Amino acid sequence: MGISLIYKEGQTPLNEEEKDGLLIKMITLQNELDEFEQMNIERAIEWTINTNLKQDKILSEKFIKELHKRMYDQVWKWAGEFRKFEKNIGIKWPQIRIELKNLIDDIKYWIENKTYSPEEIAIRFKHRIVQIHCFPNGNGRHSRIMADIIIESIFRKEIFTWNKSNMIKADETREKYITTLKEVDNGNIEPLIQFALN
Ligand SMILES: Nc1ncnc2c1ncn2[C@@H]1O[C@H](COP(=O)(O)OP(=O)(O)O)[C@@H](O)[C@H]1O
Ligand SMILES: [Mg+2]
Repeated sequence: MGISLIYKEGQTPLNEEEKDGLLIKMITLQNELDEFEQMNIERAIEWTINTNLKQDKILSEKFIKELHKRMYDQVWKWAGEFRKFEKNIGIKWPQIRIELKNLIDDIKYWIENKTYSPEEIAIRFKHRIVQIHCFPNGNGRHSRIMADIIIESIFRKEIFTWNKSNMIKADETREKYITTLKEVDNGNIEPLIQFALN
């Protein structure tokens, strides 16, 4: 038995060991899992709103892990822990720490030198961190909240609207989202910025 999960396009499947990390054993269906995760995420967002987040804190491995932990700690044992397996998206897992360090150094440089607009900096960070794919699951949602935190707490601008969707359902909006992500993979960042701003 155990949980049977339905994977949408652009999802990373969990292996058996990762699935064993499910803390709420009564969850057996994908939509139940989605809902429990969503409740957990909403509590994490509340925490980000009620916490004074400064640039040096946000742009650190410690915070990136803490945010993931707070988003999923009521549902998954491995919340906030880097993955230890290969996935269909992402670099080889032993490189996660060093690649995340490179990304953090890069974004600090972009901010300091105003290399790109605030929106582009936040969205470039969002795309790069999903490519690293730090965690067994939840990387997409984590990356969007990171982008929101960056734009709001570092640049003092409104959070992104993400097409008014949480991209959980496999609908048209999610399809459009995945298409724009692939465009970024090919070097075109603009459609994802527009997607996030609409
Ligand atoms: N081609 C791609 N390029 C960049 N990011 C992608 C691509 N395909 C999928 N993604 C991102 O990876 C996420 C899937 O990773 P996952 O860890 O399952 O996150 P979540 O569970 O939050 O959806 C998608 O939600 C999307 O944000
Ligand atoms: Mg997923």
